[in-house]
Amino acid sequence: MAGDGREDSSMRARWTEDLSVGVDVIDNQHKELFSTADSLLTAVERNEGRGEVTKMVAFLEEYVETHFKTEETYMKRHNYPDYPTHKIEHTTFISDFYDLRQELDNNGVTPELTARIANRVGEWLVNHIGRMDKALGAFLRERR
Ligand SMILES: [Fe+2]
Repeated sequence: MAGDGREDSSMRARWTEDLSVGVDVIDNQHKELFSTADSLLTAVERNEGRGEVTKMVAFLEEYVETHFKTEETYMKRHNYPDYPTHKIEHTTFISDFYDLRQELDNNGVTPELTARIANRVGEWLVNHIGRMDKALGAFLRERR
């Protein structure tokens, strides 16, 4: 999907090296999450149809759930002390994401929804990974 030469950088979700948690399985899933979130942001910005956006939201939702399960399995397996707090952030994200999907189902792609996706998905990921997942990564690396 080559662009039209117009690089609009207003909403991008990008994985960068400083988000690495040092555990390959988790980092690779994070990269995939960012690329999915980025495609979604691009789709809403370009005003692609509701059907297309709905498909991408469903895919992202499924991928997020798989990814959270991966992290939670690591946490349980290694008796991670911050598991309850970390798990709450995951659960909150999933429930926010349900709201977002509900809004999409009810009203289609609106500017409010677009802003909410950028905020709830893009910013949340950077914030959560930077704090919670990095702490988990450091813990897991010490256990090796
Ligand atoms: Fe996490």
